[in-house]
Amino acid sequence: MRILGIETSCDETAFGVVDGGRRLIANIVSSQVELHAEYGGVVPELASRKHVEAVIPVLDETLRQAGCGLDGLDALAVTYGPGLAGALLVGVNFAKALAWSLGLPLVPVNHLEGHVYAAWLDNEEGPRFPSLVLIVSGGHSDIVLMEGHGRYQRLGQTVDDAAGEAFDKVARLLGLGFPGGPAVDRLAAGHGRATSVKLPRARVYGEYDFSFSGLKSKVQRLVSGEEGETPEAAELAAAFQESVVDSLVTKALAAAAENGAREIVLVGGVAANSALRATLAERSHVPVVVPPPALCTDNGAMIAACAYYRFEAGNVAPLSLDVEPGLKIG
Ligand code: KG4
Ligand code: ZN
Repeated sequence: MRILGIETSCDETAFGVVDGGRRLIANIVSSQVELHAEYGGVVPELASRKHVEAVIPVLDETLRQAGCGLDGLDALAVTYGPGLAGALLVGVNFAKALAWSLGLPLVPVNHLEGHVYAAWLDNEEGPRFPSLVLIVSGGHSDIVLMEGHGRYQRLGQTVDDAAGEAFDKVARLLGLGFPGGPAVDRLAAGHGRATSVKLPRARVYGEYDFSFSGLKSKVQRLVSGEEGETPEAAELAAAFQESVVDSLVTKALAAAAENGAREIVLVGGVAANSALRATLAERSHVPVVVPPPALCTDNGAMIAACAYYRFEAGNVAPLSLDVEPGLKIG
């Protein structure tokens, strides 16, 4: 069953085709990074307009890569939340019009669930439930126990900034531009692991909750010289990254052990982080599943993959489908 996945929740216009929920056929992502870079972050109104311009060219390119026409598709899928309302609307309305005109079912997909399903794309080993899922992106940091397809129990989340948001803000403090995650990753990698700057791990009330805003403020004070001589940027990037990675990995491992998880799944844009990938793999006693970096950040293939299982469970959207910018998982 070939599904076309459509993703426009933030600043990537992305389409993908996946067969049977696992086999990747095509994946095209048109990023708006350059458009937003001069503003230091995503400008919602500009994002929506760019999506409108990009949907048809990106669809055409995706079908070219898939080697089929619209008649080669069995269903469509679209992200309806969470994300920026105006950006989501472009994808949802485009998907509804396309589904109606082709007479195909449209499957509504939660963006966060989509991230999870990137883990098993073109991966011979399917899910080993219960899976402990760590979703870390620009908008979310969630620890979720996945007991089966579509069965999620959220065990923890960030109480303030998301992990990716913290990376982006610290990158700005260090003058590294936008998006900051990859830049901090590169700068820290050049520095190596040992750093003389020690940054705190936040203590949070919930056992599996996170907090990153205090850490960001600490970096801000160090950068401004309020706490004595400012350490060099690479040193700060490495120490910040080490603190975030340590918090994420420690809590994910504890949640996995307590819930008898048979694997740990690391997904979302921050899952592209080299230190996070390496540290989790090093410290975990159960297999760790992480998509290749290109499938960690937003893409349409993950939406198509997830949709296969949602469709099997009978989930088809009515034409009245609306966006849900605040949608959660679990
Ligand atoms: O999942 P995603 O593409 O979009 C959202 O759903 O938010 O995640 C984007 C986030 C950004 O904050 C970006 O800085 C971060 O993922 N990111 C990284 C890396 N690559 C992307 N963070 C740390 N290290 C990276 N290599
Ligand atoms: Zn995302």
